[in-house]
Amino acid sequence: MFRQQGMLLGAIAMALALNANAAGDGPNKRHLEQSVIDSGALSLQEIIRHGRHIFAEDFNTHDGFGDPNRPGINSVGEATGFNRVSGPDSVACAACHNKPFVGGAGDNSVNIFPGFNRPDNIDDLAFDNLNVRNSQSIFGAGPKQVLAQEMIAELEATAEQAREEAEASGVEVTLPLFAKGVSFGSITGLPDGTLDTNGVEGVAKDLRIRPFNTAGVIPTLRDFVIGASEQHFGIEAEEQFGEDGDGDGITRELTIGDVTATALFQASLPIPVQILPKDRRLRREALRGERVFGEIGCTNCHISEMVIDDPVFRERAPGSVRSTNLNLTRDSFFPRLRRNRNGSANVRLYSDLKRHDLGAAVAEPLLQVDRASVSHFMTLPLWGVASTGPWMHDGRATTLTDAISLHGGEAASVRDAYTALNSRDRDAVIEFLKTQQVVILDPRLLIPNLPLPEQFDVNQANFGEEDSFAARQNP
Ligand code: HEC
Ligand code: HEC
Repeated sequence: MFRQQGMLLGAIAMALALNANAAGDGPNKRHLEQSVIDSGALSLQEIIRHGRHIFAEDFNTHDGFGDPNRPGINSVGEATGFNRVSGPDSVACAACHNKPFVGGAGDNSVNIFPGFNRPDNIDDLAFDNLNVRNSQSIFGAGPKQVLAQEMIAELEATAEQAREEAEASGVEVTLPLFAKGVSFGSITGLPDGTLDTNGVEGVAKDLRIRPFNTAGVIPTLRDFVIGASEQHFGIEAEEQFGEDGDGDGITRELTIGDVTATALFQASLPIPVQILPKDRRLRREALRGERVFGEIGCTNCHISEMVIDDPVFRERAPGSVRSTNLNLTRDSFFPRLRRNRNGSANVRLYSDLKRHDLGAAVAEPLLQVDRASVSHFMTLPLWGVASTGPWMHDGRATTLTDAISLHGGEAASVRDAYTALNSRDRDAVIEFLKTQQVVILDPRLLIPNLPLPEQFDVNQANFGEEDSFAARQNP
């Protein structure tokens, strides 16, 4: 057994070395086969290292960059391969996810314009009809996906109960829908064994919480890797587009194993933490600000804490019988979740993972798939918010005060309560938001192309003192 694994590793090393030995231009990317992951020959750290490679390094034409159907015509009619508006628009995930370092959010210069996948050019854009989205931080994405999965299970169990009770009793049964204490309206079971979902709110009618992107319509990190690679680089994942989805002659641009590794890398990123100011007066104001934040109702949506019962991120590839597991309290980069005595973990996310109507000021021109309205957005988590400006789905808020002022719709009364505060209390709320930061303990996440050492241990770089961060997310 041991020997077989050694041989397998040797074969992988050789496959990886092929690219590296060729002189001149060639592909930047190495590939990882899912069968190798499934064989157990690689450590979790090695898989994550590969995911970081896919995420942080550039795709070029030898890797399959570009899409013949989206040639990216410039203003004098030449095909450049790039189109800032409809994509392909960049060469690396890290190009847009780098604030304050790899895995983070992005400036408005890397905004995207979803719903605008036109094949042609930049000549006659109707800019007044574009949705604009600002890059979002991926720190804490692992816990977010696992929370959503546990919430979905709770919602589905309630729906099933309503269905069964209605069928058994022959009368309609309406049950309140809750997940982790968050209300999602109600669901009604009908005597014929079907469900009436008219009472469902804040989530799609299928009860599947999709925690990713600002509209809350993407279910998993895996889906994001596949969609973003196609959209931004014209790199087609084999599992969705086949061997050569764009017909550019380069096959298997992203293998199933590549996608698995990239999903796991994102899930392993550090979680944001609370850093209290050193200055005693500011520290007091920040702590007081958190109380005001709760008192005026910000926590109706930005719920400070939820508990994951089983803090394990499971990535199961299509066609695989078992998943690759990442224990979020053990395997992730520092700072990471702490395991409670009973095995659960507290997540100080400041979100309810619910979609809310935030009113006319933030409404978008295009209604995309699976949304109740153009002004419905996912409650953006506030952990790390101080490190991820500019803010709101389109990045239009350059201050936290502006972000709050843009709240309307379901948040109108809470926004008014904020506006009605005296200036000292408003400042205290902002001071609290400023404590929500992304910090780094591993410089290899800071510099995209800093090679990771061969013996890569995601945890070894804990050279700082974890407790020196006033990491109150797990007191
Ligand atoms: C051109 C810029 C750009 C590139 C390149 C890019 N992204 Fe993004 N990313 C964005 C923007 C903008 C959003 C917010 C999208 C929205 O809200 O609709 C986003 C959102 C995300 C999210 C959701 C985060 C959350 O919690 O909601 C994930 C995950 C993600 N990107 C992963 C990737 C991966 C993986 C790649 C590379 C394959 C990538 N992105 C490449 C701009 C980019
Ligand atoms: C009804 C639910 C709700 C309430 C109440 C609410 N928010 Fe929000 N908040 C949201 C949603 C939804 C978004 C995302 C809006 C968007 O992307 O355009 C958001 C976004 C934000 C952002 C920007 C985050 C980012 O990463 O860009 C900040 C800051 C914020 N809220 C702070 C607050 C504060 C402070 C309060 C209390 C005064 C508050 N919110 C009350 C739902 C709510």
